[in-house]
Amino acid sequence: MTDTTPNAPSRTVVEMSQIVLPQHTNALGTAFGGTIMSWVDICAALAAQRHSRRAVVTASMDQLDFVAPIRAGQMVSLRAMVNYAGRTSMEVGVRIEAEDMLTGERVHAASAYLTFVALDEAHRPCAVRALVPETEEEKLRWAEAQVRRQQRLELATRRKELADARRSANAP
Ligand SMILES: CC(C)(COP(=O)(O)OP(=O)(O)OC[C@H]1O[C@@H](n2cnc3c(N)ncnc32)[C@H](O)[C@@H]1OP(=O)(O)O)[C@@H](O)C(=O)NCCC(=O)NCCS
Repeated sequence: MTDTTPNAPSRTVVEMSQIVLPQHTNALGTAFGGTIMSWVDICAALAAQRHSRRAVVTASMDQLDFVAPIRAGQMVSLRAMVNYAGRTSMEVGVRIEAEDMLTGERVHAASAYLTFVALDEAHRPCAVRALVPETEEEKLRWAEAQVRRQQRLELATRRKELADARRSANAP
């Protein structure tokens, strides 16, 4: 039976490390963005599963900012945590750092926010347990995630209106 005990964001943290091999690079010899996105998606999905104890699907990856290039041979460390839980969806934040294994220098390379939806056995969205932020930092993350969620919903509504308007305009 699925655990319904309220959960703290700190208990959803997932950390993952990867080394950037030649097959992960682009023509410039730095990490290919698509590979980083795939690692981000996996790390974030595990955090969402750790909270919901359900199968989850990625509903959106609405912000992925690359702030510094990651070079071949560097270690990529990903840290994911559920920031916010709605009824069936969860927003997960991921911080990506790159470490030079020879010098030990570590830099912030990217950050991302993703939304996952928990699914039941019939693959329909299902309710997740409550997420209860405890620390000031977690409460701040929750509040910021709520703003992003509102913006996402408004954007989705606006997009739908525009698509409906285009369909009406093209209707014979
Ligand atoms: C994500 C998906 C399950 C949502 O299904 P749906 O029928 O739109 O579900 P609902 O309208 O009931 O919304 C369910 C939740 O998803 C959220 N949601 C739906 N679309 C979203 C989007 N594009 N971005 C963020 N959240 C979204 C809703 O806000 C709602 O959250 P809440 O319950 O916390 O309020 C469905 O669109 C889907 O299966 N998409 C494909 C997923 C996939 O294949 N991902 C890639 C591989 S994992």
